Amino acid sequence: MCGIFGIVTREITELGPILVGAGERLSYRGYDTVGAATLPREGEIDLRKDAGKVQEVAEKYNFAEMTGDRAILQLRWATFGAPSKINSQPHLDSDGDLVGAHNGNVVNNVELREEFQAEGMVVRSENDGESCVHAVERYVDQGYEMVEAIRMATLDLEGDYSFVIGKVGEDHLYAIKMGSGLVAGIREDMVCIGSDLPSILPLTREIVRLYDGEIISFWAGGYEITSVEDGSTIERDPEIVEDSMEAAQKGGYPHFMLKEIHEQSQVAGELLDMLDKIPEVDQFIEKLEGARDIYVIACGTSYHAGLLGSIYLNKFAGRSAIPVLAPQFAAQYGNAVGPEDVGIFITQSGETKDVINAVDAARERGMGVLDLVNVVGSTLTLISDVHLPLVCGYEISVPATKTYLNQVLALLYIALRWGGHDTTPLRKIPGLINLTLEKTEEQIKPLVEKLDGWDDLYSLGYGLTFPVALEGALKFKEITYAHCEGMLSTEFKHGPLSAVYDGYPVIFTAGPEDIPLIVSGINEVTCRGGHVIAIGLEDPRLKANAQQILTIPWPDLPEELVPAAAALLSAVPLQLLSYHCSLARGYDPDFPRNLSKTLTVD
Ligand code: BG6
Repeated sequence: MCGIFGIVTREITELGPILVGAGERLSYRGYDTVGAATLPREGEIDLRKDAGKVQEVAEKYNFAEMTGDRAILQLRWATFGAPSKINSQPHLDSDGDLVGAHNGNVVNNVELREEFQAEGMVVRSENDGESCVHAVERYVDQGYEMVEAIRMATLDLEGDYSFVIGKVGEDHLYAIKMGSGLVAGIREDMVCIGSDLPSILPLTREIVRLYDGEIISFWAGGYEITSVEDGSTIERDPEIVEDSMEAAQKGGYPHFMLKEIHEQSQVAGELLDMLDKIPEVDQFIEKLEGARDIYVIACGTSYHAGLLGSIYLNKFAGRSAIPVLAPQFAAQYGNAVGPEDVGIFITQSGETKDVINAVDAARERGMGVLDLVNVVGSTLTLISDVHLPLVCGYEISVPATKTYLNQVLALLYIALRWGGHDTTPLRKIPGLINLTLEKTEEQIKPLVEKLDGWDDLYSLGYGLTFPVALEGALKFKEITYAHCEGMLSTEFKHGPLSAVYDGYPVIFTAGPEDIPLIVSGINEVTCRGGHVIAIGLEDPRLKANAQQILTIPWPDLPEELVPAAAALLSAVPLQLLSYHCSLARGYDPDFPRNLSKTLTVD
């Protein structure tokens, strides 16, 4: 996820401070690199950019002195191309009279760069933002006016993106929305665009909403919206935004956690776009293929994703993968591992010291190191043999949600691909996530009422849903502060069952293949007065045996994929259940007491 900002002012203005302010407001979307450009009516574009955070780059290149009446700013969350100066945005066209920057993923970037080079264009970086500029350059060079050239460029660009672009010698800027965020702001002395509301709200509360398939041309005195589809002009009046800044950053959601739960569908789609394209997937599988033993090493929520992933690897690739909590790795396996073995290290932050310590232990023994990391440019991504980005954008809420689901989805994708199965059916997962969200919200209220006030409960699962039960338990612990123990459902009768008394809540997350066994477990609880909540695909046996159920929609997928997909989707009800239970207790789910998003200490 990146951030873009563009502005056109009526007078020549000191634009530097405005650009830095916009950059700081966009930095939650990523700050591997930062860049700004001002466009004069004649002469050279003033382009200043580098790897690093907003303040660092702004100071190093003296953004404060940037003046003019048109400017573009971009913050990059690296996906295509390392976080380096050459890959930073904005980018110039071949002869430097166009400059532009994008947010999103142009998934045919590699092919396009080859085409542009073959056409004689000057391609300077590996970044897909540059492909947006050259795609427009192609048609400007054929004589099209800017809006028409941008419309034509969309025929060549594949993926979800938005970009802003401008040309020397004009007084307009242009921006297009094709799957990533974009909104415009107007004031009597300027018009601007940004990736999201927070980037423009401090400048104006008069905004113009934009929708996918629209191009906005804007200048100091106004704006015009053009349809990509047919080139027609779209009339749209501005509106006044009442949102507070904080509410705007949450995109209208009450908490980042709920926003990030609802982002899961979108980031799952972006992950699949990317996994279909990048060579790292095959490199990752090649390393696994050649391994004697495979270890899945992580902490917290990431460990639960890895545990589920290890079941996927067994199920679809026929290979065992040993899941282990990172700090336990050396003690448990240190003397058994060597250069023939490979570790899959899973960490959304890429900075968790427990995981980095385990990587060091693996390296000391010559092991292969693969990573699944969300924060690109983080420590682990710089020391692993193959890095697979999770492309979730920043996850702000301390309890991990969208990064967990993308970790699970990435591991399912890898297992299927490695086992020679078709990954295309996974394209339905983003839609199924949204459907599960909707169904869950409809059913959740009575469950929250039942669980309110219980500071002690169990979350059980079996087979594919065992890791899901553990993750559900962790969510409860993290944000309701209740002691919720996650456990293998068959283990419950070997001791913990003694905890059950009248009304005591036990949550069973049931996979479609394990209903008979789960039903036995449910009755061992209910016959002793316990209260069972069952989560799973629609099944009359769950309805007949549990006091309360929460059903998730049956995934319209090939039969052999249904249990795996159901396990992935079952996390959503548990995320929402813990979220609502946290609110019922008056807690802030985003920043629970005692916890931290990333622990870079032992
Ligand atoms: C904890 C977080 O500090 O670290 C958890 O509160 C997270 O949400 C765990 O799962 C591991 O973090 P990471 O970045 O290694 O996935």
